[in-house]
Amino acid sequence: MILFIPYLICLVGTSSALKVMTFNIWLSGAEVTNGMEKIAKQIQNVNPDVVALQEVESPDVVTNLTLLLGDNWSGVHHCNSTYPDTGILTKHTIIPGTYVHVDYGMHVKIQLLDTKRQISFWSMHLDYRSYGPYACYNKLVNSEKQIMAGEMPTTCTGRVQNMVQLVTNQNFINQISKSNVVPVIVAGDFNVPSDEDWTEANRAEHGGWAFEWPATKILRDSSGMKDSFRELHPDPLADPGITWSTVNKFEKEWDYTIPEPEDRIDFIFYRGPLRPTSSFPYAGTGPLTPIPHQWGNEWPSDHYAFITEFQDLPVSDDPVDPVKSVDRKYINRHGRDALRVATPQCNAEIIDGSEERQGRSLSLSGEGQHGSEVK
Ligand SMILES: *[C@@H]1O[C@H](CO)[C@@H](O)[C@H](O)[C@H]1NC(C)=O
Ligand SMILES: *[C@@H]1O[C@H](CO)[C@@H](O)[C@H](O)[C@H]1NC(C)=O
Ligand SMILES: *[C@@H]1O[C@H](CO)[C@@H](O)[C@H](O)[C@H]1NC(C)=O
Repeated sequence: MILFIPYLICLVGTSSALKVMTFNIWLSGAEVTNGMEKIAKQIQNVNPDVVALQEVESPDVVTNLTLLLGDNWSGVHHCNSTYPDTGILTKHTIIPGTYVHVDYGMHVKIQLLDTKRQISFWSMHLDYRSYGPYACYNKLVNSEKQIMAGEMPTTCTGRVQNMVQLVTNQNFINQISKSNVVPVIVAGDFNVPSDEDWTEANRAEHGGWAFEWPATKILRDSSGMKDSFRELHPDPLADPGITWSTVNKFEKEWDYTIPEPEDRIDFIFYRGPLRPTSSFPYAGTGPLTPIPHQWGNEWPSDHYAFITEFQDLPVSDDPVDPVKSVDRKYINRHGRDALRVATPQCNAEIIDGSEERQGRSLSLSGEGQHGSEVK
């Protein structure tokens, strides 16, 4: 019996903290002066372990950020080189051959230095069009069907289809089934509020609507993921956690007289044996001067970033509930099309600042192509 005690202490000793940041970098810093430097500086101030990026405008954005962040940082972006949009930065080790993408996001597995732990990490940026809160504040909108038409359009892919594509992705399903050993984190800009936020209690603050926004609901119901912020702060009235917007306070048309609705649209979801200990929106420490006078702001984005700190607990042997099928009401004709992952296969590179200085970058093997993740 006594012999077991040092072993237990040893197990406890392997647990460590994990700080995750999701950061929409607003056209890659183009809307403030020296935007790229400011993005890097804000990441350094937060000092996260992993960052989910959105609005990576071109492939050299991740290269430049890793160069600015310093030696131990590396990154990957979505392999769509026309507009990568999503990317991941970390000061730990990106595991080659683990890149996977969907149309609106991408994933790599990360080995946490100084531990035996790995995480499966997704950065997502769902479609920005037909922004739901605008419908809710439009007095000509009087049925939920009209709002849902924006989330789940029949003529193109919307946020419902984007999320259904993620939760039905075979790699994602495999990751969830192993999340008791390798936690899964889905972070990003969903461009839509949470189904846990627009409740009866705060109807008055939401244009008179309580509404079950579907993207977060699909993620929670189907994959059993939890929203780290809402878990720690369950009352949306007391803790709205607004992330939109830092500087977009009034619409440019009508001479900035019409206010922009404020919402929490950036999220850090997780599944696995780790426990969030703090979670908060973040926009630096300086003043946030609204559009159109934002150019001198130290904070380079029109979103707040979101940060969640996890306590990384020992591996669990508990069985994992598998991913459940998506509620049929979220599948329309265009949704079925989205289930067949449309994006062609492509290669992604791990971009390492120190290697890049010498004019080359580490290439992922063919295993990194879509649909062939090592299980
Ligand atoms: C990245 O850095 C290179 C070299 O300084 C520069 O030419 C390029 O414009 C930068 N790209 C972005 C997106 O800032
Ligand atoms: C970078 O990583 C090396 C090797 O893991 C470590 O010795 C060093 O302290 C790290 N540097 C920084 C700035 O974190
Ligand atoms: C890459 O992204 C652009 C812009 O979103 C899109 O139009 C294009 O279809 C994408 N390319 C591929 C190969 O998916």
